[in-house]
Parts: sequence; structure tokens; C-alpha cells
Amino acid sequence: MIVLGIESSCDETAAAIVNDKKEILGECVLSQEEHKSYGGVVPEIAARAHLEHIDEIIEKTLKNANIKLSDVDAIAASSGPGLIGGVVIGVMAGKALSLALNKPFIAVNHLEGHALTARLTSDVCYPYLLLLVSGGHCQILIVKNVGDYERLGTTIDDAAGEAFDKVAKMLNLGYPGGPMIEKMAAKGDENRFTLPHPLSNSGDMNLSFSGLKTAVRKIIESYSPDGKLEHAILNDKDTADICACFQKTAAECLTIKLEKAIRYFKASYPNGKDLVVAGGVAANTYLREALQKLADRHKLLFSAPPVRFCTDNGVMIAWAGLERFQNGYVNDLDFKPRPRWPLDENAPKAAGAGGVKA
Ligand code: KG4
Ligand code: ZN
Repeated sequence: MIVLGIESSCDETAAAIVNDKKEILGECVLSQEEHKSYGGVVPEIAARAHLEHIDEIIEKTLKNANIKLSDVDAIAASSGPGLIGGVVIGVMAGKALSLALNKPFIAVNHLEGHALTARLTSDVCYPYLLLLVSGGHCQILIVKNVGDYERLGTTIDDAAGEAFDKVAKMLNLGYPGGPMIEKMAAKGDENRFTLPHPLSNSGDMNLSFSGLKTAVRKIIESYSPDGKLEHAILNDKDTADICACFQKTAAECLTIKLEKAIRYFKASYPNGKDLVVAGGVAANTYLREALQKLADRHKLLFSAPPVRFCTDNGVMIAWAGLERFQNGYVNDLDFKPRPRWPLDENAPKAAGAGGVKA
């Protein structure tokens, strides 16, 4: 079985072809450079750039894989959640190919793409505990099966990647912020500043990054002669130390809640063996090491996709599409792209807002 996947929900235009032997036959990712000077993704610019490049990205992917379109068994497109202008472009391209080739169309939830990637790149079995940390989402979930999720906790404000991006912006490190923060943090002293761990005593598994970001802002402002962030005078060491302290605290916030989630997971799913991290922030080596230690302490197997499959890519959509197809999920061509699409929308509601008690 061979599936072509298309991704266009944020600022990566990407496509990939995978088969049911877990082989990546071809792939191509274009990270849009157009947004750099804006310090964030501009939806309209993103949509236009997707439109301009999507055909050539699909063509390159086919060439890469050395196969013809007619060899593909199904076409999957990232159909939300995301920036709707971009999502529409990928979905339209997917539907057009599906119609022309008379092959099934599969609408993939972008988050499911992140969630299932580790099953392609390692031997992860259902059910598993997942930390999903990207630019737009931050959730702790149990992945019971394809399309079957139990959400234990979520952020009540900023996503983890959003916090990295906002802190990077305050420090003039450019966009996307995560990789730059990680680079600077490697040279910094992670114990110089004490930062808060919001919601750490809340009893549930929800997360919050807004207070952490504000605490970083206050530290930066304290280096400004007039208290204004933009006038702060920071040398390289100050910047590196702030990055290191922020990165350490963000990782701690995540592991504190995961500790609770692991207890719940082990009690509720005694056959579950894996802790998985996915999404753009999963590319962070410091976080991966912290999660490896956490998993070791709790005798779970830790898996993280290779770094290039943590940030948005076509492989994750092709693979999730393939798993959906194998399980008999296909979509009609009138499927409407969804700007919002919770992974657990069909699950029975757990106790408490956005999560269950540990
Ligand atoms: O999954 P992704 O590519 O797009 C979304 O679906 O949101 O995630 C992008 C996010 C950005 O916020 C980016 O700063 C963050 O992932 N990110 C990182 C790292 N690489 C990317 N955050 C921390 N450390 C990294 N090395
Ligand atoms: Zn993503």
C-alpha cells in the first residue's frame, strides 16, 4: 500500500510518499522564508506561498520516489487544524488528485500526523502516552488507536512552541524561536534566574506558559534603563543564561505534569509501555533528554521521531493517512477543511475542564 501525503497547514509546504512497510519512498519540504522579517507566520502570505509551490513539491516528491501518480493507492492531505488559507490549498490539491486518479481521499488531522509519526520511525504500540508540543498545541494524550484519543491535559494559554517563539522575539533571536533558544541555551547557565512553574500544584494535568513568559519579560526589562523591553541592554552571556533558564523551566513544567500522566496511564492502561514526544518542540534535545530520564525512572520506553520529522513535514501526513486507510477511514470529496479540530472530539468527556485528575 502506497500513500501520498500533503502538508500545508502552517509555513511548511510539504509532501511525502510512504508504504505499509514503513518505507519513506520520497519526500520534499519547503520551509517558507517569507515570514522571517515579521517575527511570526503571516497567514495570507503563507497561503499564497503554498499555492505557488504545492504542485512542484508534489512533483519533486514523485520524482524522488521514482514512482508514477498511478502507483499511489490513496491521497492524504492535512485538513486542519491550522491556518485555513493554507489548509484549503493542500486539501484542494489532494482532492483534485483523488478525483483525477479515482483514488481515495483521506482527510488527516494535522495533530494526528504528529501523534502517529513515532509509529513509523520506531516500534511504538497502542496504547501509548503522548506529549504533543508544537507551535499551536501543547497536550498530554493517551493514543489508544488511530482516531481514538484520551486527552489528559492541555495548555490553558500559550502552546509550548509559542512560548519559545515569544521569548525568542523578546530577545531579538528571530523566528522560529525554538531552535535559536536551544542554541543559545547550550552556552548558558540554567541556574542563574529562578522562574515560576505555573499550574504545577493545580492537581490536574493542564499546563500554562503565559506566566513563565511574563517572568522572562520582567527579567529582560530589569536590564533596561527605562524599564522598557526594547531598550534592554543584554550581553551574549545574559541572553544565553535567560535562554537556558527558560528552556530548563519549560521542560520542568512539562515533566511535572507528565509525571502525573504516567501514574494515570499506568493505572488505566497496564499494557501500555511507551512514552512518546511529538511536534516541533520535540526537536529540542534538552527536552528529549529530560523525557528520556523521566521514562527510565518509570520503566517506560521513550520514543521521539528524528528531529526532521518533529517539525511539520509530509511524511507524518502520509503515514497517518496510511494508518487511517488501513483502518478503513476514507473521506468524501466534500470534506470541509477544519481550522479547529480537536483530536479527542469523539471521546467521552473526562472529568474536569480539559483533563482528568491524576
Ligand atoms: O510542529 P511545528 O513545526 O508546527 C506546528 O504545528 O505548530 O512546530 C513549530 C514550533 C515552533 O514554535 C518552533 O519554535 C518550535 O516548534 N521548535 C522548537 C525547536 N524546533 C522547533 N522549540 C524548541 N526547541 C527546538 N529545537
Ligand atoms: Zn505541526
